[in-house]
Amino acid sequence: MRNKKTTRESEIKTSKLMMPNDANFAGHVHGGVILELIDQVAYICAVRHSESYCVTAAIDRVDFKMPINVGELVHFDARIIYVGRTSMDIKIEISAEDMKTKKIKHTNTCYVTKVAVDESMNPREVPELVVETEEDKKLWQDAVKRREFHKQG
Ligand SMILES: CC(C)(COP(=O)(O)OP(=O)(O)OC[C@H]1O[C@@H](n2cnc3c(N)ncnc32)[C@H](O)[C@@H]1OP(=O)(O)O)[C@@H](O)C(=O)NCCC(=O)NCCS
Repeated sequence: MRNKKTTRESEIKTSKLMMPNDANFAGHVHGGVILELIDQVAYICAVRHSESYCVTAAIDRVDFKMPINVGELVHFDARIIYVGRTSMDIKIEISAEDMKTKKIKHTNTCYVTKVAVDESMNPREVPELVVETEEDKKLWQDAVKRREFHKQG
């Protein structure tokens, strides 16, 4: 029988200060910097859940709603919202804080699919996800719809 874990056992909240070397030619933070951090945060969630090495199968569309500036503190709030047999969908909320004014702006919501793999890079089974709250149920259902949408191509 498969082991079971809650989303709270793998969720992560972390922050990163944006430095001058993170900037693009316009002086805002380079989109690639944020994408790399999104992938890292998703990796942490996936490894915590699966206790296994994981690879990125997909990153859902990432909309950059507003620029992030050098000197801002970027917050990542990530949690697993759906688990298949070997794959896990992670939702990541991203916001940027102006550290002087403490004003926080929401900049992105992003979904990453990670797959747990064994030493031969073959997908391996992961624990089931315990869906506890109404919010967990809603996020699970949304993830199923998102997967069906992507399957249709
Ligand atoms: C991801 C990968 C391990 C899947 O291997 P595979 O042989 O295609 O395995 P399967 O078809 O059995 O899929 C395994 C799981 O991944 C999921 N999956 C595969 N591709 C996916 C995609 N594009 N989006 C969402 N889920 C995907 C499947 O739905 C399945 O999930 P489930 O077991 O929970 O039902 C393989 O494609 C791979 O190694 N890709 C490269 C990963 C990588 O290098 N990423 C970094 C890129 S720089």
